[in-house]
Amino acid sequence: MKITVIGTGYVGLVTGTCLAEMGNHVMCLDVDEKKIRILEEGGIPIHEPGLLEMVTRNRAAGRLQFTTDVIKAVNHGTLQFIGVGTPPDEDGSADLQYVLAAARNVGKHMTDYKVVINKSTVPVGTGDKVRAAVAEELKKRGSDVEFAVVSNPEFLKEGAAVEDFMRPDRIVVGGDDERAILLMRALYSPFIRNHDRLLVMDIKSAEFTKYAANSMLATRISFMNELALLSEKVGADIELVRKGIGSDPRIGYHFLYAGAGYGGSCFPKDVKALVKTASQNGVELQVLQAVEAANERQKHVLVDKVVARFGEDLTGRTFAIWGLAFKPNTDDMREAPSRVIIGELVRRGAKLRAYDPVAMPEAQRVMSDVKNLTFVDGQAQALEGADALVVITEWKEFKSPDFDLIKSSLKQPVVIDGRNLYDPQLMSTLGIEYTGIGRSAKPKS
Ligand code: UDX
Repeated sequence: MKITVIGTGYVGLVTGTCLAEMGNHVMCLDVDEKKIRILEEGGIPIHEPGLLEMVTRNRAAGRLQFTTDVIKAVNHGTLQFIGVGTPPDEDGSADLQYVLAAARNVGKHMTDYKVVINKSTVPVGTGDKVRAAVAEELKKRGSDVEFAVVSNPEFLKEGAAVEDFMRPDRIVVGGDDERAILLMRALYSPFIRNHDRLLVMDIKSAEFTKYAANSMLATRISFMNELALLSEKVGADIELVRKGIGSDPRIGYHFLYAGAGYGGSCFPKDVKALVKTASQNGVELQVLQAVEAANERQKHVLVDKVVARFGEDLTGRTFAIWGLAFKPNTDDMREAPSRVIIGELVRRGAKLRAYDPVAMPEAQRVMSDVKNLTFVDGQAQALEGADALVVITEWKEFKSPDFDLIKSSLKQPVVIDGRNLYDPQLMSTLGIEYTGIGRSAKPKS
C-alpha cells in the first residue's frame, strides 16, 4: 500500500519504517530539514535499537523515502499517518497545533480519497477537530474529494519500539468509515497473528484508550513508590512485596518496580492531559491527581537519602552519578528524574561526575547550564574520588558492576540505588553501605 507518515520523531519514524518492512511504499515527511538530512544521509535522529538497520534496508529496497516536500508527500499515500508531537501546554493540556497543521496540509493538497490517521497521542475529541480542519481546507478550494479520519494510537515503548510495532499486543483502530476500516485491517494483517488483536471502535474510545493505558501504568508505579516509602519505615522489603503481589494473575508482575520516579515523553504528559480533560468536563480524577503528585515527590527521594547521609549542605562533596536517561536503552532525557536529582544536589553545593552509556550528548544539551556537573567517559571515571555513588537509571551494565572498584574508588563505600539493582545482603557482605528504594536493612531472601 502507499503510505505517507507526517513527522519523523519516535512515533512517525518507527511507524513508517515498520510499515515499509512489510512491503508498503512509505514516504515520511518532516518540516525539520535537519532531521530529513540526517535520514537521507543514512542516519537516524534518535537512538532506538534495531531501527537504523531497518531504515537502511528499506531505503535500499526503495520502499522508504524521506522528504520535506508537503505536496509530494500528501499526493503519495492513500493512508496519511499523523505522528507529530503533542507537547503539553502550560496548563497541562496537549498542544494540538502540529496535528492540526498536518491535517490542514492534507486538506490543502489532496486530490483523491485519503484516510487521515492520528497516531499522535491526542485528547478525546481531536478526531473531530482533524476532520473539521481537513474539511475546511477542502471547502476553501471548492473540492468535494472524500476522506476519512481514523484514530490509531501507538503503544510503543522507547527502547523496544521496533519490537512493539512488529509484534503488537493489540492494534486499536477507531473510526466509522467502512472503507477506511477495511484498509486499516489490510494494512495490519501481516502484523497480526491472532485476529482478535485488531480492535475496532469509535474514534473517541480509541483516543481515550491510549490515555487510559498510560494512566493505569503510571498509577501502578506511583502506588508501588508510595508503598516503598512505607516499607522502609516498617522494615519490610518492597522487592519481596512486589513478588508477593505480582504472582496474583489479576495483578501481574509488570510495572511494579519502585524507583526514582517515572519520566519520559508519555507518562507525565498523558497523566497531566487526562486530568485536564477531566476537569474541563467537570470530573475530578482524584486518583490520577495523586499519581502525579506522588511521582513529583518520588523524584526527590534519592536527594532525601543523600541529605540524610551527608547533611543538607553538600559543599565540598562529590557524587558519582550512573544513569541519566529516563530509562535504559534510550537517550531520551524528557522529564527524566535525573534532571531533578542533579539540580537539587548541585543546588546544595555538590559536585557531580555523571556517566550514561548512551544519553550523554543529549544530557549535555539539556543540562548545559548546570554548574558543577562533569560528564565522564565511564563508570570507573565517575567513581574516582567521589563521596558516594548514586544510581538513577537501570542500565544492564550497571547491574553487575566491579564492586571492588566501587569500594576502592569512593572515599567511603556508600551506594544510593534509585532502581534497586543490588542485593542489600550482598552489599552488606561486601562492606558497602547501601540504601535502595523501599528495601529493609535486613533482607529476608
Ligand atoms: C510508555 C508506555 O509504556 C508505552 O506503551 C506508550 O506508548 C508510551 O509510554 P515509555 O515512555 O517508552 O513508554 O516508557 P516505559 O518503559 O513505559 O517507562 C516509563 C517510565 O516508568 C520510566 O521512567 C521507567 O523507569 C518507569 N518505570 C517503569 C518504573 O519506575 N517502574 C516500573 O515498574 C516500570
